Amino acid sequence: MSSTVPLVIAVDGPAASGKGTIARALAKHFGLPHMDTGSLYRAAALTMVRFGGDPGSEFEAVRACAQMAQITADDPELRSEIVGSIASRISAYPGVRAALLERQRAFARQAGGAVLDGRDIGSVIAPFASAKLFVTASIEVRAARRMAELEERGMPAHLEEIVVDLAARDARDQERADAPLTRAGDAQLLDTSGMGVEAAVAAAIAMVQKTR
Ligand code: DC
Repeated sequence: MSSTVPLVIAVDGPAASGKGTIARALAKHFGLPHMDTGSLYRAAALTMVRFGGDPGSEFEAVRACAQMAQITADDPELRSEIVGSIASRISAYPGVRAALLERQRAFARQAGGAVLDGRDIGSVIAPFASAKLFVTASIEVRAARRMAELEERGMPAHLEEIVVDLAARDARDQERADAPLTRAGDAQLLDTSGMGVEAAVAAAIAMVQKTR
């Protein structure tokens, strides 16, 4: 592939797989803007928590997508488990996915290239991406990482509860009818279970470079 084509990197994977860390590191390494697409679903979920709305109602979830500008990207509650869980629930609604689609596509199509991480980047948002990575790790490793992350944020948690929550979230994200979490056929698999951050980032950079 010619290196004059804008570099668009799609990073997909389940919750707490390390895809966010890897996507941010790829963006820094290749000098590209980065979008954490999960934060859009989280912002809609937090809008419902804060300003009211029933996550069981697609109508109310879609309405929250139109009101979420009130949530700022640095809001600490965006990263909470309850918000992540509501985000996973409402992300199954086709109306919610449609409401959030265009800003993700536009980000992916910007002239200089981009890195996006999420669940359906390589399959739906940017099937044209020049490099696609599917980042995963065992559920035990993901739970331990999520627990450390929550403790660091001063949000103590129980490992068993995190395992149960991640398993439920995996099932919901994989089984929904509209844009489920899936490894695009042309995505390279990166299992970070036995890897530290530096090794995982180095492996991801090597995978992207292989596609150029
Ligand atoms: O990546 P995350 O844990 O912050 O994402 C929260 C939820 O948002 C996730 O459980 C499913 C949903 N999501 C999605 O459906 N599609 C994306 N591209 C990103 C996130």
